[in-house]
Amino acid sequence: MKRLPPTATLCLCALSFIVGRFIQQIPGLPQVPQGAQVTVRRSEQPGRRLLPEEQVLKRSGSNSDKKATYSSFEEAVANSEQLQTRPPVEVTGSGLGSEAYLTQPFQHLSWYPRTYLFPGFLTKKQSEQVVAAAKARLAPSALAVRRTDDSSKQENIRTSSGTFLSGADDKHGVLRFIEDKIALLTGLPASHGEPFNVLRYQLSQHYDAHYDVFDPESYGPQSSQRMATVLFYLTDVEEGGETIFPLEGKDGLQRLNGLNYKSCDQGLRYKPRQGDALLFWSMHPNGTFDKHALHGGCPVISGEKWVATKWIRDRCFSNNCL
Ligand SMILES: *[C@@H]1O[C@H](CO)[C@@H](O)[C@H](O)[C@H]1NC(C)=O
Repeated sequence: MKRLPPTATLCLCALSFIVGRFIQQIPGLPQVPQGAQVTVRRSEQPGRRLLPEEQVLKRSGSNSDKKATYSSFEEAVANSEQLQTRPPVEVTGSGLGSEAYLTQPFQHLSWYPRTYLFPGFLTKKQSEQVVAAAKARLAPSALAVRRTDDSSKQENIRTSSGTFLSGADDKHGVLRFIEDKIALLTGLPASHGEPFNVLRYQLSQHYDAHYDVFDPESYGPQSSQRMATVLFYLTDVEEGGETIFPLEGKDGLQRLNGLNYKSCDQGLRYKPRQGDALLFWSMHPNGTFDKHALHGGCPVISGEKWVATKWIRDRCFSNNCL
């Protein structure tokens, strides 16, 4: 067989390279799943033993030869066998339930305080839409003032900029969507939620560890309390910007004495990933204040951090109660 001239060989190589690139870039092609990126630092407890099902999930997730075929959790469930054997049931009650499944994986991060991660709660586009809605109205963050606080000392506690947004402030309806979805996941109606507090943290900006509940001992009697908080991470952060729970863990309260509220060295840390939501409870099931729920935002070392906070009260917080 006659050998191809060098130019033809070169052209063929270039052509196959371009075709290869094209195939790579077709949207919707399988993505290799990312391994778990949550950094959970536990100072005292060894990790919980995995259930057999979790071990299987973990194995397939870390197998780099096996490509995930779906680009969303919904798609994966819709294409699984599960819906054929377990279709949604007919909703016969009148309690505003629905005949559709929502798909949202969750990861339990702690019982002290009760903390859950919802990976991929928002899409990239939804995250960007919330940032855009907030950008228009940024103002420096205010801080609740305790009776005994000296306002001149507050300047270095919270250094982000933020704004409040309600569902009506967003023409795309993303904020409304978030409110409805988180209400269904927590069982706490959307009417119990305060407006979103959207914050931007830039280089070295942070939020010292604090509580979201207003302890009546310090703040006086309260008509309602923030019983749960959901943090929506609207951007990835190159470095730093972790959310930290310095008193996390069964014996975490032992660290309360002499705690450095600026330190990010101890406790449970979550590194922001765009679209994830982190839920934690500030109250025990019996309605008392859970002191493990102390949390803060570590300084952003590189990049920018955008986060939306939803405080959920133990009473209806609007005039549109369920
Ligand atoms: C409420 O629950 C917490 C956590 O289980 C417990 O430590 C506390 O003693 C309980 N308080 C009351 C008043 O029942």
